[in-house]
Amino acid sequence: MNLIKKVLAAQAAVLALWAVGAQAASDEAIAERLKPVGEVCIAGQECPGVGAVAAAAGGGARTADDIVAKNCNACHGSGVLGAPKVGDAAAWKARADAKGGLDGLLKSAIAGLNAMPPKGTCNDCSDDELKGAIAKMSGL
Ligand code: HEC
Repeated sequence: MNLIKKVLAAQAAVLALWAVGAQAASDEAIAERLKPVGEVCIAGQECPGVGAVAAAAGGGARTADDIVAKNCNACHGSGVLGAPKVGDAAAWKARADAKGGLDGLLKSAIAGLNAMPPKGTCNDCSDDELKGAIAKMSGL
């Protein structure tokens, strides 16, 4: 092998190593991107993160705000289909006066009314939770 060929061969070897290195780096990056979002927890083992998730979900206890945001706001936020709007105290008061106050509104919310679906789509809401949501939206 003459000198020029040796230099070229060395350069090719360096290039090949560089290419392998670059591939390895991107494989790591891909593995990182493909990592599952959640992590499996095994009974009896410490499971970091679960407490945080439960806390974020309210540990089962949802607030009136949560229910309004999740179940009621789609219609009551903008008054879809004639729904009394969140914070429109006059509209809610007129309805409350006609139905016998907050409890009357609760009854019709549970049963549903025209385009208003029974329980406002919150089928697993307790009566108290629904009442809280109505109080929140109406300010009553
Ligand atoms: C699909 C749309 C929709 C959703 C979702 C919805 N509502 Fe309504 N709601 C309405 C409409 C429309 C009315 C007005 C009905 C009418 O007077 O004809 C209404 C009326 C009401 C009334 C007044 C009832 C009365 O007797 O005047 C209450 C109380 C109420 N909604 C509570 C809720 C609560 C609480 C939620 C969420 C848990 C909710 N709604 C979700 C559409 C909706």
